[in-house]
Amino acid sequence: DMLSKGGFPHFMLKEIFDQPKVLRDCMRGRLFAKTSDEEKRSGRNNDVNDNDVVLSAVKNNKDRLMSAKRFIIVACGTSWHAGLIGKQLIERYCQIPVEVDYASEFRYRDPIIYPTDVVIAISQSGETADTLAAIELAKSKGACVFGIVNAVGSSIARQTDTGIYIHVGPEIGVASTKAFTGQLTCLTLLALCLGHCKGTISKDEYDEMIQELAVIPDKMEQVLKLNDAIKTISRTYTYATNFLYLGRGWNYPVALEGALKLKEISYIHAEGYPAAEMKHGPIALVDDRMPVLFVATHHKQYQKIVSNMEEVKARGGHIIAIITEGDTEIPKIANECIEVPQTLAPLAPLLTVIPLQLLAYHVAVCKGLNVDQPRNLAKSVTVE
Ligand code: G6P
Repeated sequence: DMLSKGGFPHFMLKEIFDQPKVLRDCMRGRLFAKTSDEEKRSGRNNDVNDNDVVLSAVKNNKDRLMSAKRFIIVACGTSWHAGLIGKQLIERYCQIPVEVDYASEFRYRDPIIYPTDVVIAISQSGETADTLAAIELAKSKGACVFGIVNAVGSSIARQTDTGIYIHVGPEIGVASTKAFTGQLTCLTLLALCLGHCKGTISKDEYDEMIQELAVIPDKMEQVLKLNDAIKTISRTYTYATNFLYLGRGWNYPVALEGALKLKEISYIHAEGYPAAEMKHGPIALVDDRMPVLFVATHHKQYQKIVSNMEEVKARGGHIIAIITEGDTEIPKIANECIEVPQTLAPLAPLLTVIPLQLLAYHVAVCKGLNVDQPRNLAKSVTVE
């Protein structure tokens, strides 16, 4: 048992720690980051002269993908959260409007689907009943269906017209972790590759994103070193019955995902919210027994999220903040700070989600709960 868990007490922890390695696997043969002169001289790397993203699924379906008027992302659970970030990536780099829908809502809404649409189905297991039904519907209306799937040969992988595997290896823990970061990586590769083909991304931005994506696994390793510190922090929160997770922009879906992790395995009610919407409801809940977690890296809207934080503090809320290394402002406001390395805003979720996975994990372990198989949940939901 310990062997299959690679020496970790639970699959979930193993899978959290697997992330740097499996993301390197996911990017292998797809992401080519230009080797620096220094690396070339020291012979540490093969000569790569140009930054590039190569996806055969894009190359082989270039016309169809490039002429798409709209993308529609369908998924459930954690995969849907990845879809929300995928929307931002594709809109930004490919200049195509993207809608994101829960597969279960999409399939029964009698949605408007044109043959010029591309529907992206995201699924770890490749067996989720609602996502499969959404794919069938999209195909019946003539849309092209692109899969982002982990389980090789699964039903969704077989039903889609084309797609990419995330290649992060089997995920056993019911709460999804490495599949989420794998999905984000694939969505980033897709947006960069297609944007490059369409000419909707500048050469500078393309190069910068590729260079940064290549070092994300190293930065994830740095975040994982915070495991002990997060374990210590988590002890304080086993008493909590409610939790609020707030984030903006790229980190808003991360807030949703962090709240979902806590609900799933710690059985603590947690709500994820866009930080600015707090004033339209959730702020009414804030008192000295309400922990509020902010995902507040140093990017656009940083000052706005600091103001949101001050509002929570003024009402006695207990603040945990995920911040960028070297931030000196938020530590003056928050009760606990967890620092992640600096990165480009679109890639921040790959780093900021890790402390949230670890926090949920340690709170659950502290409460003596069955982390890998939480009550009432299934890894793969093959029924409606
Ligand atoms: C279940 C799992 C979640 C997962 C969701 C969607 O609820 O417990 O971890 O995110 O299904 O599954 P899929 O396999 O389609 O990504």
